[in-house]
Amino acid sequence: VIDITKLYGSTHCFTYDPGFTSTAACESKITYIDGDAGVLLHRGYPIEQLAEHGSFLETCYLLLYGDLPTHAQHADFESRVYRHTMVHEQMAKFFTGYRRDAHPMAIMVGNVGALAAFYHDSLDITDPHQRMVASIRMISKMPTIAAMAYKYTIGQPFVYPTNSLDYTSNFLKMCFSIPCEEYKVNPVLARALDRIFILHADHEQNASTSTVRLAGSSGANPFACIAAGIACLWGPAHGGANEAALQMLQEIGTVDRIPHFVARAKDKNDPFRLMGFGHRVYKNYDPRAKIMQHTCHEVLATLGIKDDPLLDVAVELERIALHDEYFIEKKLYPNIDFYSGITLKAMGFPTSMFTVLFALARTVGWIAQWKEMIEDPHQKIGRPRQLYTGAPQRPYVLLDDRA
Ligand code: ACO
Repeated sequence: VIDITKLYGSTHCFTYDPGFTSTAACESKITYIDGDAGVLLHRGYPIEQLAEHGSFLETCYLLLYGDLPTHAQHADFESRVYRHTMVHEQMAKFFTGYRRDAHPMAIMVGNVGALAAFYHDSLDITDPHQRMVASIRMISKMPTIAAMAYKYTIGQPFVYPTNSLDYTSNFLKMCFSIPCEEYKVNPVLARALDRIFILHADHEQNASTSTVRLAGSSGANPFACIAAGIACLWGPAHGGANEAALQMLQEIGTVDRIPHFVARAKDKNDPFRLMGFGHRVYKNYDPRAKIMQHTCHEVLATLGIKDDPLLDVAVELERIALHDEYFIEKKLYPNIDFYSGITLKAMGFPTSMFTVLFALARTVGWIAQWKEMIEDPHQKIGRPRQLYTGAPQRPYVLLDDRA
């Protein structure tokens, strides 16, 4: 806590905490993290158990409603999600306004924000029913918009949703099928991607979730808030790290070049960092990274990829870093992004889609946190203070009199 004597003599006390390393901005019942122990719980359930036994849609229900669904609740929720998978036909025209080489995250920011132009009923955030409809609309439409962004950038026709398929199989089909050929979803890959979605579903007050809460605290509509979250997620220090981690592994290229890059990561005069390593909260192995590593091996085996040079580099890099004094002392472990890139690339996704998949899955976390905030009777507009370090008061100087 610091004590500031302001320019006019009045005194104000507040905490100065750059990066919010020790400031809780809200109360929440959704997600618990013990970063020292490497524990992640959603509504009390360990991430390992959700990833092993649950589905992504079940996790969505859990985050939104607070409990795992019964059979009947699950069936009802699924049918409500599937009812909204289509996007307005006008939206297809939005895509053609972008350059073909636009980054799909840029398209996501624009088009998710634009949903507010189509669903006027969902803009009434004072109505609990409309809040839930808006939440379900976003969970339903995110795969469709993400797949359309992908198809647009590769010049293929859009593929409409197939509601007889499960959530993740439908997404794979919208991304990888083409109208002139039969496409069968590989159930092992669909299950693996569904698990990857579970791993990304929520992670308490990270930068993008805090962005969604801050945007929503002014009463902004939920689509605009989620678009703000997507924009924040795109940064390489956050969700963009999965793309950056794969690019780094490609740049390293071979196992013999690892020591050079590890030395660069330790050099304080070099801005290079090991992407996919380190975390603000985890000072232990990220529990999601362990599951991701297992999923990576499973996906490569399913696809018959025996020798992936990128995986060889990743495994050796992890081994070297985990035995290096610098990484041990700073408690830098692989995070969820370290193995996700190799896995998604093997599934056929280009690197530019990695953060889009993260955004697709994180949408439920963002929207659950947004709902929780709106429904909190103590909720206030977010309004951080600042520590002013600028010039003291001074008189205006006319343009002709300035030196
Ligand atoms: N490689 C090398 N050194 C690192 C790394 C890294 N990946 N991460 C942190 N460090 C070092 C810093 O240089 C710093 O050293 P210093 O104490 O000598 O100054 C120390 O460890 C602490 O790092 P900070 O940046 O202060 O830690 P912070 O909690 O602010 O940052 C972050 C966390 C952004 C994740 C950081 O570890 C990083 O940049 N990692 C690489 C990017 C990445 O993988 N991001 C994904 C995070 S997970 C997610 O968003 C889904």
